Amino acid sequence: AHPWRIGLIGFGCVGQGLYDILQQHPASGFVISRIVVKSPRKARPLPAERFEFDADALLADDSLDVLVEVIDDADAAFILVAAALRRGRRVVTANKAMLARHLPALIELQRARGGTLLYEAAVGGSIPVIRTLDAYFGTEPLRRLTGILNGSSNYVLTRMGEDGTDYGPALAQAQQLGFAETDPGLDMGAFDPRSKAVLLAAHAYGLFLAPEQILNVGIESITATDIAFAASQGQKIKVVAGLQRLPDGRVTALVTPQLVGPGSPLFGVDEEFNGVVIEADFAGEQFLRGRGAGGHPTGSAVLADLAALRQGFAYHYAKTTDPPMPPTWKSKSTC
Ligand code: HSE
Repeated sequence: AHPWRIGLIGFGCVGQGLYDILQQHPASGFVISRIVVKSPRKARPLPAERFEFDADALLADDSLDVLVEVIDDADAAFILVAAALRRGRRVVTANKAMLARHLPALIELQRARGGTLLYEAAVGGSIPVIRTLDAYFGTEPLRRLTGILNGSSNYVLTRMGEDGTDYGPALAQAQQLGFAETDPGLDMGAFDPRSKAVLLAAHAYGLFLAPEQILNVGIESITATDIAFAASQGQKIKVVAGLQRLPDGRVTALVTPQLVGPGSPLFGVDEEFNGVVIEADFAGEQFLRGRGAGGHPTGSAVLADLAALRQGFAYHYAKTTDPPMPPTWKSKSTC
């Protein structure tokens, strides 16, 4: 089989991570044939002739087997991904903010036009959590998902707790290491993990929530004193996303700082790691842990999607078009 030709849109942390992984694994069966970026002026680690600036030309290039969208701007990403799916293309994206807003429309486009969209890199970095949930979907009812879904805020809390680093310098380190969003307020304010919780709700429960339906509280107001107090009680403060099915079938969803004790698998999820505990009626408890941010871990999840596409994999989605049950929590957020 010929190597699959990738059209890469975006060359930030994730795009460069994927590029680097494929350089190190020439036998992967994938080559990056074309790369589109926004700004001709930005300094980049590859020769200028590797880059082009017209995404439409990529969408129209039928010699490309798959498009990988890893740009920052959620609105621009939606336009690109929707246009690609309208053409029936295979697409991989890591854009959680975009997916959290537009997943129902993107699913509809896939059904109508026969394209395929995968996005494992959008939640949990390297952790294959969407695919794991997909494996359960329609079979075993999931009771609860509990996860640390933002690497940057987890890194900041770890630095503050372990070395007494102040919030500002700890956040600067998270940015330097390539963990944070361009707007780190999305990480620190728990907007980023809220988007990821929307995606987990879709795959765990077939529930398509608007991001605003999930209460999110970030870590900006957490002090060294709070962390020290938690430690004195043998606990850590973590930003935990919780999705839970109630006995009446409704699902609650929220992302907030919580005290986590050593009895929880999430207690050991430090630094930029993410972790997800899945509780199912029959399987019981399962725990996934891995690097939740950074170019290589996230690039590896993109590569996993590429390999899955080559095997003909596509996500299962709820067949029903019944309106989703309303969650019990509703935040007043205006974002
Ligand atoms: N900014 C995100 C995080 C990147 O810190 O988790 C991975 O989605």
